[in-house]
Amino acid sequence: MEITGRTRVCALIGYPIEHSLSPIMHNAAFQHLGLDYIYVAFNVPPENLGEAVSGIRGLGIRGVNVTMPYKINVIKYLDELDEGAKMAGSVNTILNRDGRLIGYTTDGLGALSALKYAGSDPLGKKVVILGAGGASKSISFTLVNHAQELVILNRTLRKAEELADELRRVSSSVEIRAGPLLEGVLGDELRNADILINATSVGMKPNEDETPVKREMLHGNLTVFDIVYDPLETRLLREAKSVGAKTVDGLSMLVHQGALSFEIWTGVKAPIEVMREAALKKIMEKGC
Ligand SMILES: NC(=O)c1ccc[n+]([C@@H]2O[C@H](COP(=O)([O-])OP(=O)(O)OC[C@H]3O[C@@H](n4cnc5c(N)ncnc54)[C@H](OP(=O)(O)O)[C@@H]3O)[C@@H](O)[C@H]2O)c1
Repeated sequence: MEITGRTRVCALIGYPIEHSLSPIMHNAAFQHLGLDYIYVAFNVPPENLGEAVSGIRGLGIRGVNVTMPYKINVIKYLDELDEGAKMAGSVNTILNRDGRLIGYTTDGLGALSALKYAGSDPLGKKVVILGAGGASKSISFTLVNHAQELVILNRTLRKAEELADELRRVSSSVEIRAGPLLEGVLGDELRNADILINATSVGMKPNEDETPVKREMLHGNLTVFDIVYDPLETRLLREAKSVGAKTVDGLSMLVHQGALSFEIWTGVKAPIEVMREAALKKIMEKGC
């Protein structure tokens, strides 16, 4: 790849960003399509966030991904938010349109795309989401427009209830329930559920022996989507496979949210498989 004066720049801002898979995924996609773009990552300490965002305008950077811990704090520096970002109160993608910075969130749509890509469209389905943190919020604000029934279960019940209240404000047509992440509740809700999404960090390294749901509660009619991608095959996914459930891994969400950012910046359809292969190769090298 030859970098010239015409090469357009996209970037990631976060803190820390050393282990991010985004540069690998996006550069593989640019190269595959022969697009004159490059993607770099900037480790931005909190006191520099405002200046870093001004730098997007100043340097004419085309597009930026925003990761932890800035998905909320970055909003005050932007000129405009699209509807999805406004609803979720979170931004993971910035488009620089002639000096105006527009914020988007592709996390929820990335999760939806990952489900559809796996052949598990949540349209009209009962979806149980575990967790009420940032990722759960982005996903549930997207799924509230698709699912027929949405159940949010969280260790801290108050957070699940608050999220359910926010969701009810944007949708009156979906049945929304909140509950505690307890065995009895899980058992009842999963019995007739179509899709289970783990949006907690349970099962993530170094606690890969843990699972948020006992194997006995899983069944063959479920699609089990674990957004944790380190390890790639969590205990939850392994046990879901063993009972004949369809599974979707966290890398799929990562790739699809990245693909949607790519499309916002370039206007070109992202090569999903190329991005997944590139990320997978990196994960294997790291021994995840
Ligand atoms: N695949 C992707 O593209 C993608 C994107 C974003 C995030 N993720 C992954 O998703 C996970 C959650 O991220 P996040 O940003 O939403 O984090 P977060 O805002 O910190 O939320 C964490 C959630 O996990 C719950 N939790 C943590 N430890 C728990 C435990 N021991 N038992 C039960 N619940 C527990 C928390 O419950 P409380 O409210 O009770 O604390 C909360 O609901 C992380 O593993 C992250 O790597 C993946």
